[in-house]
Amino acid sequence: MQKLPFTNLGFDVSRLGFGMMRLPTLISDEGKTVINRKEAIAMVRHAIDHGLNYVDTAYGYHDGESEIVTGLALKHGYREKVKLTTKLPQWLVHEAKDMDRLLDEQLKKLDVPYVDFYLIHALNRESFHKMQSLDYKSFLKRAKADGRIMHTGFSFHDDKDAFIEIVNDHDWDLAQIQLNYLDDEYQATVDGMYYAASRGIGIVCMEPLRGGAIANPPQNIREMMNSYDKQYSPVEWAFRYVSSFKEVCTILSGMSSMQQVEQNLEIFGRVTTNNLNDQDSAFIKNLKKAYLERIAIGCTKCNYCQPCPQGVLIPDIFEAVNSAYMFDAPADFEHAYTQIIKRNGGAELCVACGQCEAACPQQLPIIQLLQDAAAKRR
Ligand SMILES: NC(=O)c1ccc[n+]([C@@H]2O[C@H](COP(=O)([O-])OP(=O)(O)OC[C@H]3O[C@@H](n4cnc5c(N)ncnc54)[C@H](OP(=O)(O)O)[C@@H]3O)[C@@H](O)[C@H]2O)c1
Repeated sequence: MQKLPFTNLGFDVSRLGFGMMRLPTLISDEGKTVINRKEAIAMVRHAIDHGLNYVDTAYGYHDGESEIVTGLALKHGYREKVKLTTKLPQWLVHEAKDMDRLLDEQLKKLDVPYVDFYLIHALNRESFHKMQSLDYKSFLKRAKADGRIMHTGFSFHDDKDAFIEIVNDHDWDLAQIQLNYLDDEYQATVDGMYYAASRGIGIVCMEPLRGGAIANPPQNIREMMNSYDKQYSPVEWAFRYVSSFKEVCTILSGMSSMQQVEQNLEIFGRVTTNNLNDQDSAFIKNLKKAYLERIAIGCTKCNYCQPCPQGVLIPDIFEAVNSAYMFDAPADFEHAYTQIIKRNGGAELCVACGQCEAACPQQLPIIQLLQDAAAKRR
């Protein structure tokens, strides 16, 4: 598998990294969903034995169990073979001393004296400002000086402007961003990634398969792939796309079975930075176009309709509808909509005041579309 230098930090990392967020699970004797530890440990070690040397976990994955299993998987000499990343759950940080406490707890769970990369997890504009007010830089400096962390970084979910603001604020070593061929203009964006890389920040890609969605394309997209002169699987097309950026040091895959580990190792065995010609890149653009054409509602998430006086999260609801159509996955709508209701933003709250329709630059019939969305659940 190809390895690339991690910026100028003095070591190389494998293009495929192990994301410890979607490990295989089983039901425990107490009736709880827990990680299938035996299987997960075997998967991680198999990947390392075949050239993978980057492992990514976080405080919250698998309800806190992922760090423990990561630590177990890296016993018996495996720790020394990898760069290990975990992440500070910034949403649990209320005062400066929480950062030290959480890091200490994480090192204990991982059963290691230090991690190679410590990221502030899932930053957006608002949480970043909170972390600034709690002087995150002093904490990172202290943790580096006392040897608990080697390098610093952040993972990110917001828009490009917020990304640039965070990039410019600190001498980061790593930025972990969502990147796949559907999201090149979403969140950090490809342009934002180039900017971060130009400042010497190593890019780690997450969600290369959009959480698995583009591994199982709908029929029309599968037919496009079948009629192209190169026969790559949907998974390989997605990995080839992200691998083509030399700025991307490693690509995290959240593998949930040994079979996926083996398939992904095999793909990364032949994928390099120069793996797409112009015709292939154009084809990937066409794949994206075909996905976008499946969008049911022309909402661009400009947010002009927000805030709704009733709190209806209109762009989020439309995104959930679109996503279900795009990936031919009605069950995903139910899941996404449940999350929206938990945030008190469901379509049922709409009183048809029409303020959103007056503000919408796309002139969408929002009231009707919200009623349709609510009806999908009944
Ligand atoms: N910091 C953050 O805010 C954040 C957010 C998201 C992710 N992450 C990290 O980034 C990692 C990668 O993100 P991700 O897990 O969303 O990655 P992903 O690669 O986009 O999605 C992983 C899913 O893709 C499917 N998959 C993987 N290999 C496959 C194969 N060979 N064939 C068919 N399907 C395959 C599996 O879905 P099925 O299980 O359905 O088969 C798997 O659960 C995470 O594990 C986590 O470590 C971080």
